[in-house]
Amino acid sequence: MKVEPLSDALGAELVEFDIKRPCTLEERSLLRRFFCKYHLLLVRGQDVKAEDQTRFVGYFGPMHRRADGKQETFISNRVEKGVATGQSRLLWHQDGTYGIHPGIATSLLAEDVSPDAVPTLFANAVRALEQLPAALRSRIEPLHTVHGKDAYLERTDVRFSVDNIPDDAPGEQFVTFEQPIIYDTPHSRQKTLLVSEFFTSHVVELPREQSEDLLQDLFSRLYADGNVYGHKWQAQDVIIWDNMALHHCRPADMGTATRRMRRQSLDGWFTNDGTIDWPETVVARARTAD
Ligand SMILES: [Fe+2]
Repeated sequence: MKVEPLSDALGAELVEFDIKRPCTLEERSLLRRFFCKYHLLLVRGQDVKAEDQTRFVGYFGPMHRRADGKQETFISNRVEKGVATGQSRLLWHQDGTYGIHPGIATSLLAEDVSPDAVPTLFANAVRALEQLPAALRSRIEPLHTVHGKDAYLERTDVRFSVDNIPDDAPGEQFVTFEQPIIYDTPHSRQKTLLVSEFFTSHVVELPREQSEDLLQDLFSRLYADGNVYGHKWQAQDVIIWDNMALHHCRPADMGTATRRMRRQSLDGWFTNDGTIDWPETVVARARTAD
């Protein structure tokens, strides 16, 4: 098994790797090390079935199981059972930052994509934090932000703000959680930036105007071209990415080009000695967005 980097910013393709053959314990450990180093791993050009993705994702940690017992969801612009998901542009985010446990990792299998399907973009928040000027890093070190999500909102191109929560909103409509801007990842022991264009409302410790200036400064560094990898999908691509190290977005409406993804995520992380439990609690209450 080898890796070939996908960009200067992040990501690597696994080569000389057969996703259809069960991995040894040593290979699984190596996959987790590659994951923590590159933050996104791609398997391309193989006849990948759903069970191959499930086995592969299961090397990294215990898999998230939904309330209905299923271990997967689908992100599609095809109408299925009267419902299409993920149609519109999707702002930059990390999954689940509006809850106590932001997701550790997410995987997508491109079950059916046309060559002109909209790409998925990834930005490296660990790298962006490392490259911050020292004074800016010191400034954000003690600060926190409020993240939130409107569970009733279908649109994925509108930034969350606590200022837009109506006084008479039902209790289950909005979920919010306060997070440190600099976040210690439980699985890779890295530091990352946990502020995003989609879910971050404001900095707790600052007046709104200063808060917004600071957030826009951080967004401009996070989402700068040199810190981003754009993944142009090919049929049966499998990727798994670090949801804390990387932000992801869909930069445009899906349009009509076929784009159907099978999505799985983790509820923890396997170490060589055991398991870090990290259940996706809030995601079950709010609609997921990918
Ligand atoms: Fe997402």
